[in-house]
Amino acid sequence: MNNITIAIDGFSSTGKSTLAKQLAKHLGYVYVDTGAMYRAVTYFAMQNHLVGEDFLNKEGLIQKLAEIKLHFQFNPELGFAEMYLNNINVELQIRTIEVSRLVSKIAEISEVRAKLVEQQQAMGKNKGIVMDGRDIGTVVFPDAELKLFMTASAHTRAKRRFDELVDKGQNVSYDEVLQNVEERDYIDTHREDSPLVKAHDAIEIDNSTLTKKEQFDLVVELIHKFFA
Ligand code: DC
Repeated sequence: MNNITIAIDGFSSTGKSTLAKQLAKHLGYVYVDTGAMYRAVTYFAMQNHLVGEDFLNKEGLIQKLAEIKLHFQFNPELGFAEMYLNNINVELQIRTIEVSRLVSKIAEISEVRAKLVEQQQAMGKNKGIVMDGRDIGTVVFPDAELKLFMTASAHTRAKRRFDELVDKGQNVSYDEVLQNVEERDYIDTHREDSPLVKAHDAIEIDNSTLTKKEQFDLVVELIHKFFA
């Protein structure tokens, strides 16, 4: 099978990254979690007091964008690439509920998007890549051979996200997580620059009632049917 580009988009906590990691491992492809990049920029903005619950210094962040260097480094023990911000591993810091609350504000900024999209396109120029996000099939790789659009009910997603955060020892309530999921859905689908929409040629997968294995088997079957 020739190397292809696989674009996975969808709402938050639809299991995009789980599926993307499984596919990358199965196919020997590179996996890129673009949400981690928006989260790392958000973490940078938080550290530099450029964003908070009730403020955003957009111009200040735009001026500092050149100071932000992002890269992924594969961690063989974990089996996936971790996010580095200016050579520091920020994988844990970018997964907190504080970053989740602020990231949509940062992802709305066109200058931030332009910088990250350019880097994402460079990473995928040789194909053999699985990339997940919100605008991969529409903006980053409109010519991707396989586009998947993942959905699940807000309740299902909030429950998954809540269990994950509790497992990591974070002190959150289910209602708080559900509210965050619904707020991000709204902002992600209503922003002006690259809103989350299903590409016309994407295959929609609602995984509310699918196990991770069922979902993976379904997509692998698809790939072998169309690209083998
Ligand atoms: O996939 P995630 O939940 O880790 O993404 C974090 C946020 O980043 C999400 O609220 C929307 C934004 N994002 C985006 O705007 N474009 C992408 N390609 C990936 C993520």
